[in-house]
Amino acid sequence: MAYYYEEVSRTFNEYLLVPGYSSKECIPTNVTLKTPLVKFKKGEKSKIEMNIPMTSAIMQSVSGEKLAVALAREGGVSFIFGSQSIEDEAKMVAWAKNYKAGFVLSDSNISPDATLNDILLLKKKTKHSTVAVTDNGKSDGKLLGVVTSRDYRVSRMSLDEKVKDFMTPFEKLIVGHEGITLSEANDILWDNKLNSVAIIDDEQRLKYFVFRKDYDAHKKHVNELLDSDKRYIVGAGINTRDYEERVPALLEAGADVLCIDSSEGFSYWQEETLRWIREKYGDSVKVGAGNVVDKEGFLFLAKAGADFIKVGIGGGSICITRETKGIGRGQATSLIEVSKARDEYFEETGIYIPICSDGGIVHDHHMTLALAMGADFLMLGRYFARFEESPSNKIYHNGNYYKEYWGEGSNRARNWQRYDLGGDNKLSFEEGVDSYVPYAGHLKDNVKLSLSKVRSTMCNCGALNIPEFREKAKITVVSSTSIVEGGAHDVILKETTINSKM
Ligand code: IMP
Repeated sequence: MAYYYEEVSRTFNEYLLVPGYSSKECIPTNVTLKTPLVKFKKGEKSKIEMNIPMTSAIMQSVSGEKLAVALAREGGVSFIFGSQSIEDEAKMVAWAKNYKAGFVLSDSNISPDATLNDILLLKKKTKHSTVAVTDNGKSDGKLLGVVTSRDYRVSRMSLDEKVKDFMTPFEKLIVGHEGITLSEANDILWDNKLNSVAIIDDEQRLKYFVFRKDYDAHKKHVNELLDSDKRYIVGAGINTRDYEERVPALLEAGADVLCIDSSEGFSYWQEETLRWIREKYGDSVKVGAGNVVDKEGFLFLAKAGADFIKVGIGGGSICITRETKGIGRGQATSLIEVSKARDEYFEETGIYIPICSDGGIVHDHHMTLALAMGADFLMLGRYFARFEESPSNKIYHNGNYYKEYWGEGSNRARNWQRYDLGGDNKLSFEEGVDSYVPYAGHLKDNVKLSLSKVRSTMCNCGALNIPEFREKAKITVVSSTSIVEGGAHDVILKETTINSKM
């Protein structure tokens, strides 16, 4: 006879937090959201600790290289999508790892024989006022000079005048040399009262610019997540088929942490993938696995050697797994059970395996609930897909901007490895949809706002860090009528904004 759970399968919307005592120390600026990404032994620290409890979903429409940089800047980790060729994924990882905060590849370049008119056209296009003059007119050419608005007066000069005749020539430039640190480059800017400094290599080829205006921006990223070489921490998705080739390529590209991307993790194939990684690399390679929705699934992956375990089946915004296959479990119920299993496993073995709540976070208060229910961190797809930095197209329709967002199990993603069970190599039915989400601007602003709400609620519950929050949280199930009471009701709203609903 089938096993029947006694409890109803519930989702975040069915719960509320009940406030606790807030002492005078309980103010949002005192709250830390630091959280472990990978497993650690009792008394030790996780090898990778995030500064915010957020990771981005392993999806084509979410985790590209630009989002990886933007999220690491705020203190979280992106997992670059694995539903692409090994070479392309490794390239994205390498791009994000080699991205140097504050060092900008020049995108306004011109050759010395171009004219003032060409400069004006270029400035119109790029909106940048510093133009590099290089021998081949490209960003990697030999640097011959720089043109800024101080070098010409349109009213007094002919538009045909050659760039080489009015640029500030190389001999008069103060430059930095490749290998210089950001703080040394900034010293050059400040000591010489410059707005920008070009960085060149031994052969005088242009490498980067460092701009004074970026100095403050860099200082604002107080949470940025860096490795020991001051490069951003970057994750990458893998699958259970080509790991023998993909894993070495991603590690070579610099990936700090991997995650097996699959809709269902309680499987022979995940066990085999983890076994291969452990045999080849021991514990030096960090790899997450999932997804599971109960204690049994958690213990299976814990024993197989996962460094973190993802929880959630069927709750994703683009997911139709529950409709097409009739499997899954309410995200809140799954999380509560797995988080209990993690704590018991820690008690028994002294090994703490972080768990990630993956999918179904719609409102910011769902983030808070997930953390209260035991998630060490969250994985978000729809949330990040809305931002400027996500890789998908921005579309203008009826006065509003949207971004495209599609599931990894949709025909569009054709991520076959993720959704079939191993044998047949073809997607026979879809488990995800192709959709639009409202465009929401830059990641930084949104993450700041969302987490300020999380911090504020934690204060209401008297907690200053995530483990304390988990301990102190009091959570109640709500009736369907009290859900109505929770929104604005019995008033005529003047206007609604997207943010007020998040
Ligand atoms: P969201 O944050 O609610 O949009 O959910 C994102 C999560 O949905 C991802 O991290 C995956 O676990 C899951 N997911 C991604 N693509 C699909 C799909 O096509 N079908 C079902 N689940 C998906």
